[in-house]
This record gives sequence, C-alpha cells and structure tokens, in this order.
Amino acid sequence: MAQAREQWTSRTGFILAAVGSAVGLGNMWRFSYLTAEGGGAAFVLLYVIFTLLIGLPILLAELAIGRGARHSPIGALAHFGGRAWRPLGLLFVASGFLILSYYSVIAGWTVRYLLAAFSLDWGSDPGSYFGGISQGGPAVIAHVGFMAITVVIVAGGIQRGIERAALVMMPALFLIVAGIAVYAALLDGSGPGYAYYLSPDFSKLGDPELLTAAAGQAFFSLSLGMGAMLTYGSYLQRHNDLPAEATIIAGADFGVALLAGMMVFPLIFALGLEGQVIGTYGTDADIGSVGALFVTLPGAFTQMGPAGQIVGPLFFVALLVGALTSAISLLEVVVASGIDVLGWQRRTTTLIAGGAIALLGVPSALNLAWLDVADTIANNLFLVGGGLGLAVFTGWIMRDPISEAAGTATERALMRLWLPLLRFAVPAALLLVLWYAVPATWSKLVGLLG
Ligand code: TRP
Repeated sequence: MAQAREQWTSRTGFILAAVGSAVGLGNMWRFSYLTAEGGGAAFVLLYVIFTLLIGLPILLAELAIGRGARHSPIGALAHFGGRAWRPLGLLFVASGFLILSYYSVIAGWTVRYLLAAFSLDWGSDPGSYFGGISQGGPAVIAHVGFMAITVVIVAGGIQRGIERAALVMMPALFLIVAGIAVYAALLDGSGPGYAYYLSPDFSKLGDPELLTAAAGQAFFSLSLGMGAMLTYGSYLQRHNDLPAEATIIAGADFGVALLAGMMVFPLIFALGLEGQVIGTYGTDADIGSVGALFVTLPGAFTQMGPAGQIVGPLFFVALLVGALTSAISLLEVVVASGIDVLGWQRRTTTLIAGGAIALLGVPSALNLAWLDVADTIANNLFLVGGGLGLAVFTGWIMRDPISEAAGTATERALMRLWLPLLRFAVPAALLLVLWYAVPATWSKLVGLLG
C-alpha cells in the first residue's frame, strides 16, 4: 500500500517554501556576477524580460502539472503524456543531482565565510583567503557539512522539515537583505553603484552571450527546468490559485535579486572596489567571476571597520539561508522520485541520495574549473533543455492544460495568452538559446579536458 501523499499545511507555507527554492545563491552570487560581467542594467533588463515571457509561463506549467498529477516529475509527466515522457523526468532527476553537487560546494564556502565573518578572518587579503578555502580539503569538508544539514531537513518531510524551515528562514533573509541595502544607501559614494546597476548600456542588448546568460539566469533563479516547482506543486491541493501563486513567487524572487543588487553594487562602489568585479562579458576582471562575490565583498567588510563585523556576518547568514532553502528543493526532487517511483522510505531515500550527491560534488570542491563547467552544463543545457521539454509538453501534449492551471473565469481568459507563449514563443526563444549555448558549452568542456 502506498503511503498517503504529504501536503503543505498552509498556502503561506507553500509560497514561502517555493520562494525559498527560488531565492538562493542564484539571486545574490550568480545574479551579481552576471550583472557585473554583462554591463549592469542591460543584463538586468534582459533578465526581467525573460522572467516575464519565459519564466512565469513555465513556472505556472510546472505547478499545474505537479498539482494535477500529485506525483513527482517522472510519474507526473507519464500521467499527462504517457510513458514516452518518462525520460524527461529522468533528465530532471539527473539535473537535481548535478546542480546540487556543485551548489553545495558554493554553499560550503558560505558556511566558512560565515564562521570567519565575526572576526573578519580573511584580513586584508580576501583573495588568498578565498583561494585557500574554495578548493581542496577544506572545501570538501564544508560541502559535506552543508549536505548533512540539507539531508536532515529534507528527511523531516514536507511539513515538519521543508515548510517549517522556510517559515522561519525566509522572513529573516528578506529582512537582512533589505536592511543591508538601506545601510549601503547611507554610505558616501554609493551613487555610482546605482548608476551602474540601474542605467542600461543598450548597445549590449543584442549580444548573444548576454542573451543566453540572461535566459539561463531566469531559469536558474526561478528553479525551473528540472521539476523542482513541479515537485512542490505535487503537495498542493486542488483549490490553490496557481496563477496568483506563480506571480507572487516570481515577484518575490525578482524582488530579492533586485534588492541583492542594491546591496552589492552600492557597497562595492562606495568602497572603491569596483575595478575588481566589473568586466565585460567573457573577459573577466582580475578575479574569476565565480569568486567575485566571495572576494570583493569580504574586502568591503574589512574596510568598513567595526560595522563590517556586523554587516559581514548578517550578509553571510542571508546567503546561507538562501542556499539552504534552495538546496532543500533540489534534494527534494531526487528524494520524491525515489519515494514515488521506487517506493522507498523518505529517510532512507534522503540519506542515500544526499550521500551520492555529496560524492558527486567532490570534483567541484577540488577544482574550481570543474565547478564552472558543471554550472555551465547544468544551466545552459539541462535547464534550458528541460524548459523546452516542459513548454512543448504543456503546450502540445497535455489535453487541457488551461483547466489544470486556471481557477477563476478571469484567469481562464488570461490563459489564452499563456498557451501560445508555451507553444511558440518559449520554444523558439529556448531553441535560440540552445543554438548559442551548445557550442559555447562544448568549447568550455574541451578547454577543461584539454
Ligand atoms: N533557484 C535557486 C537559486 O537561485 C537554485 C535552485 C534551487 C534551482 N532549485 C533549483 C535551480 C532547481 C534550478 C532548478 O539559487
């Protein structure tokens, strides 16, 4: 006899858990460095457009498929599309494995920085501090430690683990990020930071590399393209208002990214550190792009003096909380599939999946170049490919997606826009992205191996 399916206790609990999945390293670490490389506001603008035109429609599709089927990705796709669609579900589980394997490494750095932040341990040379902790033994230990925390929460189940964690942590994260953004606004010399961040360089908008990066970021930030939102949707009840909830989730995710930028850029400019991070896309500034946030910001905290010993730890708490609630959702995709498809117990599944992912992450913890390649493959290929699959599935295969997604009559009318987007615009845009991304990813991979 199958166990009864778990459910969220409240609408707020679900929304916070979904926002928790969306808001994470993507909003702070990834968004900041992509913005810095991509010409500031030009990148932000593209990212907004992709979020509205691609992210929101796919988010709604994932939630609707999950809720309708009440099953994790593999079974849910089979429920609406037949067994031929199960490989797409398998790709989702594989994406969960791959993404969490390196996501947890970066989260591990965050743990280390949090511990160091109280006494600003990185001293006057955060670059070499980062070099010391980001690769090798210390990075492996922090990564495994972070995975252990994630496993404990996911093993607690939907209500007592995931929902409860989000209820406590997400409001705290929001307050901290908003607080630091206000603090940054009060610093002398922060003005140019806003200018850089908020006034676009339109000449960049046509740059294919920037377009790909912005589309990838829209996916990554909303946790789309690998069934994470689908899985969270599978613990919902019929009466939830999905279009409204999707809009709230996307709005909160974008809001936190925007706030994170309002915290990072003014700080960096106020302290005169912009030369370290601002580059042109593809040609990194002094510091490898991946490390930018972990080198430049700590440098800023040191320069702040005593205030840095408060702002620094708070910043890393927020970053860690974001990483944790996101990692939880990545692991849940794998775990839910184990429970639903293999009929395993939650605890056993979580332990096995978590252990396997911890192992898979070791190469990324030993070698930054490997982490970078894993991130590129996951985003540019797996998530974009997964999103393409979801759009085609919802637009062309599902018999009545509108009834699955919409509640009220107004919403049904709005859905007239949703379906053509999923059928034509989203697949066309994603194919274009793949067209650029496949060769770029390939050459990166060859570069690593050769
Ligand atoms: N959205 C998270 C972030 O911005 C990362 C994440 C969690 C994710 N779950 C996901 C990304 C599923 C892609 C797919 O940090």
